[in-house]
Amino acid sequence: MHDAVNKLNKLLSAKQKRQALAAFGLMVLAAAFEFSSVTLFLPFVAILARPSIIHSNPYLSFLKAITGVQSATDFSILLGLITVLVIWTSMVVRAFNVYTINRFCFSVLHVLTLNMMRLHLARDYTFYLKRNTADLTKTVLIEAEKVVRDVLFPVMRSLLHLVISIFLMALLVLISPVVAVATSIALGVCIWGISLAFRHPTQAAGRELFRSNSERFRQAAEIFGGVKELRLLGRENSYLSRFGAVSLQYANATARSETFASLPIFFVQAVAISAGIGAMLYMVWSYGEMSAALPSIAAFAYGAYRLMPSLQSLASEISVVRYSTPALDAFYADYEAAKRARREDIDSMPQPVALIDGIDVRTLDFRYEGQERTILADITLRINRGERIGIVGSSGSGKSTLADLIVGLLRPTTGQILVDGKRLETIGIRRWQRSLGYVPQVIFLSDDTVRANIAFGVPTDEINQAAVEEAAKQAHLHQFVSHELEAGYDTMVGERGIRLSGGQRQRIGIARALYRKPAILIFDEATSALDNETEAAVMAAIDELRDRLTLITVAHRLSTIEPYDRIYVLDGGRVVGTGTYAFLAQHNSKFQDLLSPRVEAEQAT
Ligand SMILES: Nc1ncnc2c1ncn2[C@@H]1O[C@H](COP(=O)(O)OP(=O)(O)OP(=O)(O)O)[C@@H](O)[C@H]1O
Ligand SMILES: [Mg+2]
Repeated sequence: MHDAVNKLNKLLSAKQKRQALAAFGLMVLAAAFEFSSVTLFLPFVAILARPSIIHSNPYLSFLKAITGVQSATDFSILLGLITVLVIWTSMVVRAFNVYTINRFCFSVLHVLTLNMMRLHLARDYTFYLKRNTADLTKTVLIEAEKVVRDVLFPVMRSLLHLVISIFLMALLVLISPVVAVATSIALGVCIWGISLAFRHPTQAAGRELFRSNSERFRQAAEIFGGVKELRLLGRENSYLSRFGAVSLQYANATARSETFASLPIFFVQAVAISAGIGAMLYMVWSYGEMSAALPSIAAFAYGAYRLMPSLQSLASEISVVRYSTPALDAFYADYEAAKRARREDIDSMPQPVALIDGIDVRTLDFRYEGQERTILADITLRINRGERIGIVGSSGSGKSTLADLIVGLLRPTTGQILVDGKRLETIGIRRWQRSLGYVPQVIFLSDDTVRANIAFGVPTDEINQAAVEEAAKQAHLHQFVSHELEAGYDTMVGERGIRLSGGQRQRIGIARALYRKPAILIFDEATSALDNETEAAVMAAIDELRDRLTLITVAHRLSTIEPYDRIYVLDGGRVVGTGTYAFLAQHNSKFQDLLSPRVEAEQAT
């Protein structure tokens, strides 16, 4: 609990802490009303039991003097009315308090979730290479909600119940100090003992709950993401039984944790009733006769009765916090890590670099973080403005990695990438990226319209339709969209573009890159799914932009880059050849290897 409060304290902003303090203030007010309603009940019952008390009790005679009420009946009616009024006010205050606590907690949920998203988006791209996206979704949405529902809420409610308990206990002390102190000690020891006894199993259940829930999310994401392969391989049942197993573990862990959270309620009840009976017997014994003890007993019983729910909640909220700490720990760790790792200023929208003269890659080495294997070694290359550069090499030779480095998604381990002689960091990675059009090997399409996918991420009312169509024409897509899709540019493409062909998806990717009119276009196998004719048409359209466009193309199909100015041949992460197609075909053995199937295929026809 202590650790949980510490972590919450660090997660909340100053403003949120002020809101929490305000909610706390209202709690004290609610508790005070609760206290008064019980306090007023005491003389009310006393008068009913023994009307003569009006004259003997100094407080009551004072009240009688200021109100001017004379008869015992009128006096009890007055007191009864005041008590009812206070109880109703107390209800209103409590209800308003519930609202303030709810509003506070859920506004914290909103802010935490949004902040977490923002912090994650500002993280280095390499972070995403190491994390499972289903896990991230779970942390951002589910863990955040758990932190609020199962940690923040219980802490706030515990506070409320603690304040109420303290007030009511104080009242019981006024009525009968010995009994109240004895009962408090008994209850305190009991709650503390129960919470200690269940601590380890509750924490264990909490950890199991967290683990199985993560696993559930991961597997669900995998099943839905790979449904095509699953179906074709007939593996539905094996995935289903794996999912069933974790789902059952989750159900069991939930059942266990929630039971641990409710057990204290029964214990507290049993202990409180036992203590109450003991207390009453003690009071009868100490007053000597029943009728004298009755008002005190009634007040005591009423106070204890109002106290019980608070004590029960207190005991069970502690368990809830306890089994939810793994969620808090995970969220907190991610939050802190994301805060530390924050690198990019995602709020800035820098202007693209106006005129790029050339890109220099200098003695670049690259290793993925935390890995031994060198992926790229001693890469040096120069790309001049307006040139068309090809990068070829066998699968796994590091072409996509090199492209990711040039676009600034990855950072070189050693060496540098210079743009117009300046380091990328000096220019600003985001500014650099704004100048690029990048068509990756796997295109991400969002479940939105063709138009929105071409103008990716631009708010709907800011999309320039003419520019969308121009880009689509260059990508050889316009014909298809306007003639074959019934809703044209408004056609929904389905999740990850499932309603389009591979080549159509790729052409949306190309149109997306062209939409922003980049100075540099980077194709990573961007035309691999197109037939020769379509590819030639796309490349011809891009050739027309030559005066303002530098083109870097990673390609397996060597015919794509045949007319290019220069080709770099990569092998095992090193540049093993540079030159024109004709030169390499003559002098470079690796290039000849890459070429040979094609030569054979051509000879065969
Ligand atoms: N996130 C990663 N973490 C660790 N290693 C990686 C990661 N991504 C790629 N690799 C490794 O880096 C090497 C180069 O991969 P890369 O994707 O650059 O190859 P490629 O030349 O583009 O291949 P292909 O032609 O098949 O697309 C591969 O051996 C791959 O296993
Ligand atoms: Mg690749």
